[in-house]
Amino acid sequence: MSIEKTEQLYEGKAKKVYATNDDRYYIVSYKDDATAFDGLKKGTITGKGAINNRVTNKMMELLEKEGIPTHFVKELNDRETVVRKVKIVPLEVIVRNIAAGSFSKRFGVPEGTPLRCPTLEFCLKDDDLHDPMVNHYHILACGWATEEDLKTITDYTFRINAFMKDFFLKLNIELVDFKLEFGKTPDGKIVLADEISPDTCRFWDATTHEKLDKDRFRRDLGHVEEAYQEILRRLFGE
Ligand code: TMP
Repeated sequence: MSIEKTEQLYEGKAKKVYATNDDRYYIVSYKDDATAFDGLKKGTITGKGAINNRVTNKMMELLEKEGIPTHFVKELNDRETVVRKVKIVPLEVIVRNIAAGSFSKRFGVPEGTPLRCPTLEFCLKDDDLHDPMVNHYHILACGWATEEDLKTITDYTFRINAFMKDFFLKLNIELVDFKLEFGKTPDGKIVLADEISPDTCRFWDATTHEKLDKDRFRRDLGHVEEAYQEILRRLFGE
């Protein structure tokens, strides 16, 4: 049976999610829309949807091979992918290898400072509250995840970081930091969900330290589309 979209369930800032004719699956559709600062800044990055779709799916396939379960099922076309139906854990899981962005701002650590070990942050997924950072106790107390889920998420996240850091360095890219989201399948398994793309990772050229990610849009650095295309080129040789 071919999997087809039925009704649209949700429209986020960068993707739409559709129900399908198979209740095990959703279809996600990646948009060219870009936002920053909790939706305050809006724009379009031409070609972004298709690039993020391909980059995400490639990373999910590689991570599956590393033993990380993901929601990825099948790429349908340039911007649509079939994924497993999961309930998203309402946390943004952020890993940092090099100080940048909000870490540098909050802690006064200059951007580009290598961190002695990777750091892990949990933020509550809530734009109206500006995705506040939350700790282990907050998460358990409010029931955003269970202790067991958090252990699994933490274990997967550090394994994902170790794999991706190495993988991108071979493409002469420094993996500065990134954000993950996890979901729970109907049978209660935690799987990696959402996306892994230049929208959700900071990628710096390892030689020039040039930014190859959404910071070019956030900070009005220009050559935004070219940065996304460069990531695609290094990943797929195109
Ligand atoms: P930050 O330095 O702004 O906290 O961002 C850390 C990482 O998380 C960076 O790679 C970009 C990514 N990120 C998202 O994917 N979504 C967001 O809403 C934000 C603020 C950051």
